[in-house]
Amino acid sequence: MAVFLGMKAPDFTATTTKGPLVFSSLKGKWVLLFSHPGDFTPVCTTEFLAFTERYEDFKKLGVELIGLSVDSVYSHIAWLRDIKEHYGVEVPFPVIADIDKEVTKLYNLYDEKSGVTVRGVFIIDPNQVVRWMIYYPAETGRSIEEIIRVIKALQFNWDKKLATPANWKPGDPGIQSAPTTLSDSLARDKEGAERWYLKKVKS
Ligand code: BEZ
Repeated sequence: MAVFLGMKAPDFTATTTKGPLVFSSLKGKWVLLFSHPGDFTPVCTTEFLAFTERYEDFKKLGVELIGLSVDSVYSHIAWLRDIKEHYGVEVPFPVIADIDKEVTKLYNLYDEKSGVTVRGVFIIDPNQVVRWMIYYPAETGRSIEEIIRVIKALQFNWDKKLATPANWKPGDPGIQSAPTTLSDSLARDKEGAERWYLKKVKS
């Protein structure tokens, strides 16, 4: 089944480095589910270090992080121990060991050709609706800063019922939805909007 924006996030039960996880038990929270191609690989290691470095920022935003790959839980444990021993960094979030590829296939993350998990990111809102998804090539590490910016934009959209313009960052104005009737579009002219279909508002 394809995963698409706005759909209910598929539920699953999985083994993780922090014990069993029932995804639907996280209802009410923002969730960042992200997959990596494999343990003990260079780009993925830099990403685990980078996600951990910003862990407190994710916590402040009320976001639960969940890692995922098709490696076994013993492989994950060995890799996380290696990261701790060599970098002094304790990875604080659970990592799913999806050896039967159940979650990987549910979220369209399996690359049949290479047989590895695609580098994917899903942001799931408190109603467990998929709000953002993006795939990266195996060779391209993710920008944690950009992921945090998108979470802040999604939370702004959710809280303020406003859209966000290009390059939006916290403190910038939001955008009201465009009018859908002629009379509303004429009313916009009187409100001093930039264009009748583009009205930025401070919030
Ligand atoms: C990496 O994380 O470095 C990586 C993983 C799979 C394929 C290529 C690179």
